[in-house]
Amino acid sequence: MTNIHLSKHPLIVHKLTLLRNVQTGPKKFRELIREIAILLAYEATADLTLRPLEVETPLAVTQGAELKEKIGLVPILRAGLGMVEGIWEMMPSAEVWHIGLYRDERTLRPVEYYNKLPVDPSVQVCLILDPMLATGGSAVATVGILKRWGAVRIKFVGIIAAPEGIERLSTAHPDVPIHIAALDERLNERGFIVPGLGDAGDRQFGTG
Ligand code: PRP
Repeated sequence: MTNIHLSKHPLIVHKLTLLRNVQTGPKKFRELIREIAILLAYEATADLTLRPLEVETPLAVTQGAELKEKIGLVPILRAGLGMVEGIWEMMPSAEVWHIGLYRDERTLRPVEYYNKLPVDPSVQVCLILDPMLATGGSAVATVGILKRWGAVRIKFVGIIAAPEGIERLSTAHPDVPIHIAALDERLNERGFIVPGLGDAGDRQFGTG
């Protein structure tokens, strides 16, 4: 599967190990989510296009460049929220569009509860942000929402994925690159990724 980008960056691997640790409290957990998100976004944006831009330094005029495409950061509520801030600092001209989905505990199917996208697409590249790709239902639904909106280039930036989620997302939307820090073993009977890190929303917001 060529569209799967599993980071092997030592900083990411190191931070992911801290993130998984059951002893890591919400403050540290949020810090790690933020830092890992920045590092993954750095890799996920390596193919953004540029347009030439002249710049005047104190000594001379020289050729530079600026980002050509408008970027949209699309966190899936709640857990994706923690991935926004750090990435946004790296690309302050990005727009942030929240999508609210929760997973029905019984059916594991995503239920949409928040979407304020404007009528016409306002960005050229969308980065979907959600730490967990479990069954893949939430990610597939979000890509569907963005495609119906008119988004053309969409990337998924997660942290931990289950094989089931990778299979489902890459089958439903083979054009969407998937950037993750870890591909774990399996889903358990409750749809949680094993070994995973538990519930990413609860661990960030102290609600577990
Ligand atoms: C978690 C996670 C993803 C989703 C992944 O959110 O943050 O959004 O489940 O599961 P899936 O791949 O099987 O769809 P959850 O539904 O727990 O909502 P929360 O972030 O509001 O706690």
